[in-house]
Amino acid sequence: MERDQNKLPQMGIDIESMARFRKILEDGGESFLNRLFAASEQQYCQRFMDPVPHFLGLFCAKEAVIKAMQDHYALLVSGIEIGHHKNRAPYVCKMLYQDKEIQDAFECSVSISHCEDYATAVAMIRKK
Ligand SMILES: CC(C)(COP(=O)(O)OP(=O)(O)OC[C@H]1O[C@@H](n2cnc3c(N)ncnc32)[C@H](O)[C@@H]1OP(=O)(O)O)[C@@H](O)C(=O)NCCC(=O)NCCS
Repeated sequence: MERDQNKLPQMGIDIESMARFRKILEDGGESFLNRLFAASEQQYCQRFMDPVPHFLGLFCAKEAVIKAMQDHYALLVSGIEIGHHKNRAPYVCKMLYQDKEIQDAFECSVSISHCEDYATAVAMIRKK
């Protein structure tokens, strides 16, 4: 029996430099933040003494989702919103493609990690 490639889980991964992102955030300021992060994401990150690792973790998660989704839709960072469960585990709450919400058509998992120098994330997507 042939396997349906559309339904196979697809993975995506991203890693970014903390120092570089810190500089971009400093230079880009609020308009940069507003371009890339939803209000709820900004609220989550601003709760921390140093929000930058949390912003970069979210950015990596979005890039990882973009890679995992690329056989289906070409997404933009600004079209993906990551939320957090009560236990702080991240999840994809919104994926927008050309102004249409498509998250309900996919099972989507993300995992984020950060240290002093880097943030990284992986995403796994399966079409429902
Ligand atoms: C959840 C846990 C694994 C996170 O690991 P960490 O090394 O502290 O931090 P990391 O940088 O790897 O990961 C942080 C990210 O994990 C994610 N995360 C947090 N809690 C999570 C959970 N319960 N489930 C899944 N992901 C979680 C978040 O995305 C977080 O980043 P964000 O808040 O910026 O989005 C850790 O806090 C934990 O609970 N460990 C188990 C407790 C334990 O055994 N402690 C004793 C250690 S000796």
